[in-house]
This record gives sequence, C-alpha cells and structure tokens, in this order.
Amino acid sequence: MTILGIESSCDETSAAVIKADEKNTSVELLSNVIASSLDLHAQTGGIIPEVAARKQIELILPVIQEALNKAKINQKDIDAIAVTYGPGLIGSLLIGVETAKTLSLIWQKPLVPVNHLYGHIYANFIQEKNNLCKIPNLPGVGLVVSGGHTDLVLLEKHGKLIWLGGTRDDAAGEAMDKIGRLIGLPYPGGPAIEKAALNGKPKIFKFPRPLLGSDDFDFSFSGLKTAVLREVRELTKNGKQLTKQQINDISAEVQQAVTDVIVTKTFKAVKKYQAKTIMIGGGAAANQKLRETLAQKSQELGATLHVPAKNLCTDNAAMIAAAAFFNYQYIEATKVTANPELYFD
Ligand code: KG4
Ligand code: ZN
Repeated sequence: MTILGIESSCDETSAAVIKADEKNTSVELLSNVIASSLDLHAQTGGIIPEVAARKQIELILPVIQEALNKAKINQKDIDAIAVTYGPGLIGSLLIGVETAKTLSLIWQKPLVPVNHLYGHIYANFIQEKNNLCKIPNLPGVGLVVSGGHTDLVLLEKHGKLIWLGGTRDDAAGEAMDKIGRLIGLPYPGGPAIEKAALNGKPKIFKFPRPLLGSDDFDFSFSGLKTAVLREVRELTKNGKQLTKQQINDISAEVQQAVTDVIVTKTFKAVKKYQAKTIMIGGGAAANQKLRETLAQKSQELGATLHVPAKNLCTDNAAMIAAAAFFNYQYIEATKVTANPELYFD
C-alpha cells in the first residue's frame, strides 16, 4: 500500500509518500517534503495564525507535487490519501483538509483522516532508507511532547490506544517557548533553551518540578514559567539586564526541570503497565537532554526506547501517512471536517 500524507496543522506544510513493507510491520519513507513558515514567526516572536494559514495556501500544492516527484510516483500509484484533521490552528488545518478532500474526489482515492497526536507516536514506525530503525514491539508507552501537547498513552496494539494523562495547562514545548521569550531568546524557545543550556549549569537557579510526585500521569508547566518570571523580575530590578551566563543557567535549570518531570512520569507509566517499549515523538522530543536521560533510564530498566529522527519528531506528513496505514479507516471525503480541538479519544 502506498499512501500520500498531508500535514498542515500549524506552521509546517508537509506532504510525504510512504509504502508499507512486505510484512506490514513498518512503512518505508519514499519522500517527506516539509516547508515551514517558522522564519516569519521568529520575526514576530510567535505564531500569528492568520499569517501561518496564508503561508499554507501558498505552499500546499507545490509541496504535494514535490513529494510525488521525489517519490518518483504519480497519482495513479497512490492507494490512499491521509490528512491531519486536528488538533491545530483552524486556518492552517482547513488548507490541508480541503486540499486532501479535493484530491481524494478528483483522483478517486480513499481519504483517511488522522489525529495529529497519533502521528507523533507513529513516527516511530517509519523506516528511512539510509537510517533503518528498530520497529517497536507493542504494547508500549507513548510520550508526545510537542508545542501544544504533553501526553502519555499506552499503545496496546494498532487501533487500540489508551490515553493515560496529559498537561493540565501549558505543554512542555509551549512553556519553553514562553520562557525563551521571557529571557530574551529567539522563537522557538525549545531549541534556543537547549542551545543556551549547553553553556549553563542547572541548580544555580532553582525552579519547581510541578506534579513530579503526583499519583497520576498528568503534567503542569505553567508554574515553572511563573517561577522563571519571578526570578527574571528580581534579576532585572532597577533596570538591570540579564547576563549571558544568567540566561544560560536559567535555560539549563528549565531544561533539567522539564526533563525530570517528563522522565519520571514516563517511567511511572512503564512500570505500572510493565511495558518494554517506549516511543517518543513531538518537537520537544528533538531535545538531546531528554533523549539521553530517557535512554539511560530505559537501559537501567531493560526497556527499549524508540526515538524518531529529528526531522520526524517535528511536524511532518510522513508520520500522518504512517498513522493512517496502521489505523486504516477511510471516510467519505465530503464528511471529513477539520477539528482544531481534537484530542485523544
Ligand atoms: O511537534 P511540533 O513541531 O509542533 C506541534 O505540534 O506543536 O513541536 C514544536 C515544539 C515547540 O514548542 C518547540 O519549542 C519544541 O517543539 N522544540 C524543542 C526542540 N525542538 C523543538 N524543545 C526542546 N528542545 C528542542 N531541541
Ligand atoms: Zn506536532
């Protein structure tokens, strides 16, 4: 089966072609084209939904064409079209959804609507030609750490995903984006904090680890943001500026706090469900500190950690096509509607 995936939930416009392997246990990546309007949003310090949507309109058709060209196929070779129908920004989602519906009707191909959050988990089932990865054995614990979400799920088998818990306020990526802005780092804050943290030390400043010991799988990161805000106000009293070292040390402590909470909660789920597999995904899963800490802890517990390549952690259409393949359910194109509030079932 060959699937064309389309992703347009936020500021990335992406189209990809994947093909199932012979045993149907993984999907091979034939192309994954990602165009981003991130540079525009960096200029305004965050995403302006209207600007993101306009950029999606400009990019969607050339990106789809390029994905087909790179995969060396044309529409006749496609068995189905997969599209993100939520969650995300409504203006951005609509572009991908309406384009996919139109192509599905014109090309007479089934349309599979995909929850973007499932996509982040299914990035772990994609095989890249020159970067073969181990395919996860199920059941496994899934961790989504993106700009809008921090969630833990149990993927019992394909088609059976159980939500365990998620953030009660800000997602980890969102908190880092906001903290980045507070301490004068460029947007997006996540990678900027990671970079600054390389030259800083945790524990110079002390920030909370919210819900670290709570008896559930929930997260909360807005308290961390408020703690940083208070510290920054104190440090910049009487017109003072943050020093470079202070910015680096705040970044190191923020990154450590986020990592501590996420790793603790993930392994709490691993122990409770006796899972031997952990699958991570989402933009913040590109964070090296988080990856290394999860890897170390997995080794200690004899579990296998699956981490997608960095370009498959941030938003991309390959993960949407992969999720569609393993949860194949097509719906009449005219009945598919964008749902910005979509969450786990
Ligand atoms: O999954 P994604 O590309 O978009 C959403 O679906 O939200 O995630 C974007 C988020 C942003 O908050 C960004 O700051 C964060 O991922 N991020 C990182 C890193 N790279 C991206 N956070 C921490 N460390 C990184 N290296
Ligand atoms: Zn995402």
